[in-house]
Amino acid sequence: MAEFDVIVIGAGPGGYVCAIRCAQLGLKTAVVEGRDTLGGTCLNVGCIPSKALLHASHSLHEAEHNFAKMGLVGAAPKVDWSKMLAYKDDVIGQNTKGIEFLFKKNKITWLKGWGSIPAQGQVKVGDEVHKAKNIVIASGSEPSSLPGVEVDEKVIVTSTGALALPKVPETMVVIGAGVIGLELGSVYARLGTKVTVVEYLEAITPGMDGEVQKTFQRLLKRQGLDFVMGAAVQNAEVKKGKASVTYKLRKDDSEATLEADCVLVATGRKPYTDGLGLEALGVEIEKRGQIKTDTHWQTSVSGIYAIGDAISGPMLAHKAEDEGMAVAEVIAGKHGHVNYGVIPGVIYTAPEVASVGKTEEQLKEEGRGYKVGKFSFMGNGRAKAVFQGDGFVKLLADAETDRVLGAHIIGPAAGDLIHEICVAMEFGASAQDIALTCHAHPTFSEAVREAALACGDGPIHS
Ligand code: NAI
Repeated sequence: MAEFDVIVIGAGPGGYVCAIRCAQLGLKTAVVEGRDTLGGTCLNVGCIPSKALLHASHSLHEAEHNFAKMGLVGAAPKVDWSKMLAYKDDVIGQNTKGIEFLFKKNKITWLKGWGSIPAQGQVKVGDEVHKAKNIVIASGSEPSSLPGVEVDEKVIVTSTGALALPKVPETMVVIGAGVIGLELGSVYARLGTKVTVVEYLEAITPGMDGEVQKTFQRLLKRQGLDFVMGAAVQNAEVKKGKASVTYKLRKDDSEATLEADCVLVATGRKPYTDGLGLEALGVEIEKRGQIKTDTHWQTSVSGIYAIGDAISGPMLAHKAEDEGMAVAEVIAGKHGHVNYGVIPGVIYTAPEVASVGKTEEQLKEEGRGYKVGKFSFMGNGRAKAVFQGDGFVKLLADAETDRVLGAHIIGPAAGDLIHEICVAMEFGASAQDIALTCHAHPTFSEAVREAALACGDGPIHS
C-alpha cells in the first residue's frame, strides 16, 4: 500500500494544477486519472480542441471575406475536414504530453484508472488501495441530459461528439444559446453549416450584460446563425441518419419541428461524482449535485477536499485552477485564497466576448449608484485596420468612489483585454487609474482606456 501526503482525483485543470502546486510545496503527491491522457475535459474534449477549430474556421472566414480587401487575391482555401481534425488532435497531444512532462518534472505519481474513496484517508484505484493524508476531489463535470433527447454522439451529440464529427454537416440544430452552443455553432457556421440555435430564454448567454447580449446576437446573426428564442425543446429523434427536433414556443405553446444532419445538445453541465463512494462516506452534496465545501474547500468529511466543476461556482477551467492552487496552499499549512468577485468569463467566438465583475443589471438590482463608460471599437484605429471594429468596451464604476465594479467587452482580443480590468479590480483601482495609465498606440487596449476616460471627462476618439 503506497502512502501519499495528497492524492488528487482527476487530472483536469483543477486537479493537475493542484498536484503541481502540492509537489512544489514539498508534498508527496499522486493523481488518479482514468483517461488515457492527462488534462481532463478541458484539454481532451473541451477548451483546447474547440479553440483549435475556432482558429481554423476563423482563418477560413478571413480568407473568404477579408483577404481580397487587403490585396491577397486568389481562390479561398477549401476545408479538408480530416486534416483539420488531425491539426486539432495534434494540438491536444502537445498539451496533454506537456502535462505528463510536468508530472515527471515535479515527481508526481500518475495512478492510472478510476478512483474511489472506500474510507477516510484511502483511495482505491483498480484493486489497489493507496493511503493519503489528504484527498482532493477534482472530478469535474459532464453534460446535463435533456428529457426526450437521447445523445448517441453521432447525430445527436454533446460538445465531445461535436469536436469529432465524421464530416462537416450541412445543417445543425444547436439546443441552448450558452457558451458551448455559440462557440461550436459559430465554428460550423463558418465552415458552411446552416446552424439554427434553439434557446429557452429570450436572450442568449444567460447572466451576461444585456447590451453585450444584444450586440453579440446581432453579430452572430450576421454570420449566418439563425435563432429560435423562447423555445423549449421537447424531444429529438433520429430516423435514417437525420434528426428532427421538436420545440414548443413559450409565448403561445405552438409546436414546430426542425430537421438537421446533426443536433448539438448544449444545455449545461452537471458535477461528475459517480463512483467516488461519496454517499457511503457521508460527504454532503448540495441540491444541484455539487459537493458541499467550507471556505477552505474541505468537504463535510475532514481530510477530503473538493474543487472545480464538482463544487459550486462558475464551471470554468481557470476557476478550478485557482481553487487547485489555493487548496494545495491550505493543505501545506499556508493561506490559500480565491477572489470569487474577480473571475473573468470569456466566450471564444469571433469577435470574442469577455466579462468580469458586476453587470449593469446586477448593479441596478442592488440599487448601487454606478456610472458607465463605453467605447466602440469603431473608434480604435488598430481594430479598424484589421476589420474588427464591431463591438465595444463597457466599464462600470462606482458613482461616488469611481472604483471599477465590472467590465464587459465584445470585440477583438476581448479575452485578453479583460485581464487589465481584472488586475485593476484586484488592486481596488478606480476608472481614473486606468485612464491615467499610458496605453501603447496602436493597440486594442486603447479602447479600455477610452472606456475608462468615458467614466470621467469623456473619451478622445468618439
Ligand atoms: P450554459 O449553461 O452556458 O447554457 C445552456 C443554455 O441552454 C441556456 O441558455 C439555457 O437557457 C438553454 N436551455 C436549457 N434547456 C433548454 C431547452 N430544453 N430548450 C432550449 N434551450 C435550453 O451551458 P453550456 O453552453 O452547455 O456550457 C456548460 C458549462 O461549460 C457552462 O458553465 C460554461 O460556462 C462552461 N463552458 C465555458 C466555456 C468558456 O469559458 N469559454 C466553454 C465551454 C463551456
